[in-house]
Amino acid sequence: MAQQPKMRVMKSSDLDALLRIDEQTSRQNRREYYERKLAALLDPRHTINSSLVAEVDGKVVGFIMGDIYFGEFGIPETSATIDTLGVEPKIQHHGIASDLMDQFIMNMKAAGVNKIYTLVNWDDFALERFFSRHRFVPSKRINLELTLP
Ligand SMILES: CC(C)(COP(=O)(O)OP(=O)(O)OC[C@H]1O[C@@H](n2cnc3c(N)ncnc32)[C@H](O)[C@@H]1OP(=O)(O)O)[C@@H](O)C(=O)NCCC(=O)NCCS
Repeated sequence: MAQQPKMRVMKSSDLDALLRIDEQTSRQNRREYYERKLAALLDPRHTINSSLVAEVDGKVVGFIMGDIYFGEFGIPETSATIDTLGVEPKIQHHGIASDLMDQFIMNMKAAGVNKIYTLVNWDDFALERFFSRHRFVPSKRINLELTLP
């Protein structure tokens, strides 16, 4: 890798970079999802923009998208979620997601967050290992679902 990655807060102009990375990692086009997330994050009425990107040589190569909740969903504590995490396949395994995660955790601590939640597909063992390395453990909350016919 040419240069140490630089972390900064996500901006609306990062949309194309997020889409490029997401297409490479998930093989999907989720433009609508990212447009909606970015619009919500950057809404001045929104609390804190917790999402971060990592840049190498001025190019966005990874991101972590999160949110902060103040007593919502019946959870009295201030909590945060990690919704999406992605790093360009060519430069994965260089610690970029770990740097993003460390910075995110540090920022959340400073914002008064007690707990960070995320969801992982039960059979995504590589991602579970990644979160486990960052001290995430199975939650006491149960994820419920209803499939509509
Ligand atoms: C999950 C993901 C974000 C990790 O990104 P990453 O930048 O490769 O993460 P890191 O480099 O910090 O860690 C990955 C592995 O590389 C290893 N690693 C970190 N730095 C390293 C280095 N300098 N040299 C060699 N290995 C290294 C880590 O130990 C880690 O190993 P582990 O997973 O076995 O614990 C990335 O794989 C990704 O984008 N996946 C697809 C998208 C996805 O599934 N997103 C989650 C859904 S929201």
